[in-house]
Amino acid sequence: MDAHPPATHAARTPTNGTGADWAVRPSGPDPIAIIHRALSLVVPQFRLDLHHGWHGIEHWARVWTNARFLCRETGADPTVPCWFAFLHDSQRCSEGSDSEHGERAAAFARKHHAKGDITLDAGQLAELEFACIHHSGGATTGPLTAQICWDADRLDLSRVGVTPRADRLCTEPAKRPETIERAIQRGLYARARGATPADTVARLSVE
Ligand SMILES: [Fe+2]
Ligand SMILES: [Fe+2]
Repeated sequence: MDAHPPATHAARTPTNGTGADWAVRPSGPDPIAIIHRALSLVVPQFRLDLHHGWHGIEHWARVWTNARFLCRETGADPTVPCWFAFLHDSQRCSEGSDSEHGERAAAFARKHHAKGDITLDAGQLAELEFACIHHSGGATTGPLTAQICWDADRLDLSRVGVTPRADRLCTEPAKRPETIERAIQRGLYARARGATPADTVARLSVE
C-alpha cells in the first residue's frame, strides 16, 4: 500500500449544505491526501502532547477548518494553507514562549520538500516557508496565502480565552463578526474539553 497517497485527485463535486463546505474547490489538490501526508511527517517527531496540548492536533484541525473557510471565501488555493495548518506548530519545543518555532517549521518543510515528502512547487514552498516564519509575530501584510494562514491560526486564539481582534486579522472574511463569533464558540468547546487554569493560559504564547 502506498503510505503517501498522491496529493492530487479528480474533481470533487460539491453536493449541498455542509457537503459543499467540505469541497474547497470542485477540482484541484485533495486536502485529505495532504493531511494524511503531513500527519505522517509531523506526528512521529512531535515533542509536545499531541492530543491534549494547546498546540497539538486539535489546534491544527481547527486551523485547517478556518483556512478552508477563508480559501472558499477568497477563492484562494487551499494547498499551502492546508500544509501550514499541520506544520506551523509542529516544531514547537514548548507550549509557552518559543519564538523560533516558525523558523524551525519552515526548515522542516524545506527538508521534507527536498526529500520528496512534500510535493509543492517552488513558489508554493516559498509561500509556506514565509507563512510559517512570520506566523507568530503579528504580521498582517503579505501574500493572500500567508494572510489566510495567519488568520486561520489567530482565529483559534479563542481556545485559550483570547478573543480574536479584527484589527489583528488580515482578510475580510476573517474579520467578519460572524466568523469571529464562530471561532469563539469553537474555542469555548475546546476549553471545556481541555480546561487549563487561567493563570496558565495567561502565560502561554499561543499563536
Ligand atoms: Fe505557532
Ligand atoms: Fe498555531
